[in-house]
Amino acid sequence: MTNHIPTQDGSNTLFSKKYNQHFHDIKTGAILESMTKHVIPAFKYHTNKAHLNILDICFGIGYNTFSTIYFIMKNNLKITLNIYSPELDGELIDSLHDFDFPSEFNEIKHIIQCISKEKKYKDDFFDIEVKICDARQYIKTLHNIDVVYQDAFSSDVNNELWTYEYFKDIYNVCNDDAIITTYSVATPVRLSMYKAGFEIYEIKPVKKKQTLGFKNKQNIEAKYIDMELKQQRNKEAKAIHD
Ligand SMILES: C[S@@+](CC[C@H](N)C(=O)[O-])C[C@H]1O[C@@H](n2cnc3c(N)ncnc32)[C@H](O)[C@@H]1O
Repeated sequence: MTNHIPTQDGSNTLFSKKYNQHFHDIKTGAILESMTKHVIPAFKYHTNKAHLNILDICFGIGYNTFSTIYFIMKNNLKITLNIYSPELDGELIDSLHDFDFPSEFNEIKHIIQCISKEKKYKDDFFDIEVKICDARQYIKTLHNIDVVYQDAFSSDVNNELWTYEYFKDIYNVCNDDAIITTYSVATPVRLSMYKAGFEIYEIKPVKKKQTLGFKNKQNIEAKYIDMELKQQRNKEAKAIHD
């Protein structure tokens, strides 16, 4: 693959011509972004579960799924996983066997190769499904989700994965103690999540702020965002709709 784009932390990403966007924030770094925005917040929250069902929206180059496995192996966590990940671009998945991933993923090369070829992987600990389909249809088939990595392109180009109706479907397939992690801090996105039933929190793991969503109020190291107050103060603010 010739179109690798190096990011700040040395790991590579891609640029999507269709969405006119990089797959990762190149100033943060692909693996750093994946770890700090998704994997670490999710595992800091879910410390006691022996099994997690993770919805990875959407698979792309696979950093969020691969970083999750790397994190579990590195920290010797005794946990099993189901990862469910929709992705529209089947050719991208086919091409991943050739992608120059960071050395952190050296030990899971067999998993990367298998996913690229079979669109799935299974061993005693990890059961991963990459489904080539529209995420909007796919999420309706799921249940008992513990973690949602909400990592679509931004709402101006990937609207269907940030709407109130989308988050309502996500809410319906999530367990009561589920966590949503996303890089987006846009008020319309937060309103879509809030109106769908999620309480909104903010953290700043590295340089940039980000959003966490939960079905209930939390006592965690994060700033609670009062969305009712936000709406009172900014009458123009609106959720995104289909
Ligand atoms: C920002 S990238 C995901 C990055 C990914 N988490 C990674 O680590 O590489 C967004 C991905 O969503 C996919 N996508 C966009 N809209 C989709 C949809 N409606 N259903 C499924 N996949 C979609 C795109 O093809 C793209 O691969």
